[in-house]
Amino acid sequence: MPLTRKAYRAAILHSIADPAEVGIEASYEYFEDGLLVVENGQISAIGHATELLATLPADIEIIHYQDALITPGLIDTHIHLPQTGMVGAYGEQLLDWLNTYTFPCESQFADKAHADEVADIFIKELLRNGTTTALVFGSVHPQSVNSFFEAAQQLDLRMIAGKVMMDRNAPDYLTDTAESSYVESKALIERWHGKGRLHYAVTPRFAPTSTPEQLTLAGQLLSEYPDLYMQTHISENLKEVEWVKELFPERKGYLDVYDHYQLLGERSVFAHGVHLCEDECARLAETGSAIAFCPTSNFFLGSGLFNLPMAEKHKLNVGLGTDVGGGTSFSLLQTLNEAYKVMQLQGARLSPFKSLYLATLGGARALRLEDKIGTLHAGTDADFLVLDYNATPLLSYRLKQANNIAETLFVLMTLGDDRTVLQTYAAGKLVHQR
Ligand code: GUN
Ligand code: ZN
Repeated sequence: MPLTRKAYRAAILHSIADPAEVGIEASYEYFEDGLLVVENGQISAIGHATELLATLPADIEIIHYQDALITPGLIDTHIHLPQTGMVGAYGEQLLDWLNTYTFPCESQFADKAHADEVADIFIKELLRNGTTTALVFGSVHPQSVNSFFEAAQQLDLRMIAGKVMMDRNAPDYLTDTAESSYVESKALIERWHGKGRLHYAVTPRFAPTSTPEQLTLAGQLLSEYPDLYMQTHISENLKEVEWVKELFPERKGYLDVYDHYQLLGERSVFAHGVHLCEDECARLAETGSAIAFCPTSNFFLGSGLFNLPMAEKHKLNVGLGTDVGGGTSFSLLQTLNEAYKVMQLQGARLSPFKSLYLATLGGARALRLEDKIGTLHAGTDADFLVLDYNATPLLSYRLKQANNIAETLFVLMTLGDDRTVLQTYAAGKLVHQR
């Protein structure tokens, strides 16, 4: 393959550690006039432009941006593809919302043509918002995952997805059986897991919609293949937590249900965790499991406030999730805007550098992909963004008053959204241009 080498010159910022572990100053690298060198889909160098340019051939192609910031691609650790058509559904909290809006909307994915159409819209929306990797729920239908992976493969995106397993407490038109969910998941794993930059996630929707038999088979799948992911929901809503206690009276609590069926582990991501207790946080951390923090969803569905300081205390891996369509935006910048308010309402602060960490390296760590994505270190995938300081008149004016990168970053996360993302690159290729 011929060498393709390009350099991108702009201000460059990436998170290199968790501020909760190393302090804010040691958690990031910032180059006011930076250069990112990309070769064959990977980052080959990052540094100060003048220093790096001296080491490169004089004729290297350079793309120079003014008033722009290069960051790693953003990582969404929890989102539902088949809920794209029902974002912003009025009035209900979780359990009624599922029955009233979600299940009917997801039923449309029985039709492959519909799945293809929504997969295309969904991926464009991710890229427009600067999300280059997502951990994605399909519907119960295998074709929802086929459509998604077919579209992701064409763009060589690093994506993780799985077909929902759901064999009770949902309408007949949307349930599988323990056996069929096992067979269908296995076929998807064989077809997609480890193909290019694609990975499979075993996806029991949540404890109430799976029988013990189905949860057993989910655990069996995880034991049969290396490096499979597991995604589900946990302790999002108080009525849901009570329901799980009724359905599984023999278990100590919600997390213990998943623990019993061997669904915890280093590639297991649990969405929400708003109502977890200290012991559950400790157990998640001990098993290397991660939480997807979904602030826009937790506000929109009235679920509650995620306790990030408690998760930090237990050194629990936490990523950020939009949870579309419970969440109301594909934008992880807007999701961070809401995350800040979740902390404010608990008398805590979310620094812009912790926010950057959550949306990039923290997500990569939650997914055990930090050697490939989440930073701009040499040797990682060239998944990166160009953010435009002049995206809107207000952003442009406000950023002119910013005194340092901390303030600039915070304003980008408060005022920023899809309009702020000028370009999105995946594996070194331009996959979105505003
Ligand atoms: N719990 C079970 N299913 C869902 C879902 O689709 N969205 C959210 N937010 N929570 C869930
Ligand atoms: Zn969800």
